[in-house]
Amino acid sequence: MYSIENKVFEKYISKVELQDTVSRLANSINKDYANKEVLFIVILNGAFVFASDLLRQINIPCQVSFVKVSTYDNEQSTNKFKQLIGLNEEIRDRHIIVVEDIVDTGFTMLNIRQQLLKLAPASIEIASLLFKPHKFKQDYSVKYIGFNIEDPFIIGYGLDLNGYGRNLPEIYQIKN
Ligand code: IMP
Ligand code: MG
Repeated sequence: MYSIENKVFEKYISKVELQDTVSRLANSINKDYANKEVLFIVILNGAFVFASDLLRQINIPCQVSFVKVSTYDNEQSTNKFKQLIGLNEEIRDRHIIVVEDIVDTGFTMLNIRQQLLKLAPASIEIASLLFKPHKFKQDYSVKYIGFNIEDPFIIGYGLDLNGYGRNLPEIYQIKN
């Protein structure tokens, strides 16, 4: 059990499950991109833990870039335009894998994808540790998914509630 901001969380995904799943994703990427070079674009802040575990198991030639998504106001609302900031690498004709912690409605990733597609990459795929299939309403696909999960809010392993919980080594789900 873990408590922040008067909310109670219980353990949901263990360290071992996380390790096994991250290894599975890394193996798939290594296999799919054998003989290719990849530019990984990690979406901060949430994906920093997942990315650091995933990337240390990638054995193809690659570069890693870290970007942030800025919203135009403070609201959590997903319907605001989100701009990618901090992208310095050349995208044109490169194989891109976007590394994200969680894809929920998919709106954030829709914006990220559209901005990257304008820069004419050779290919673009998404690796997300977590995916909420019941909430996803987009017509692109997320190729590398760690866990398909239900709705309730989760924290840990990079994911936060108001900035708290990112440091937890396992994933916790909110308790109603
Ligand atoms: P989307 O635009 O609806 O796909 O929302 C994605 C963003 O919302 C993620 O990048 C997270 O920052 C945040 N988010 C969605 N669900 C959760 C959750 O269960 N825990 C923590 N953050 C979440
Ligand atoms: Mg995020």
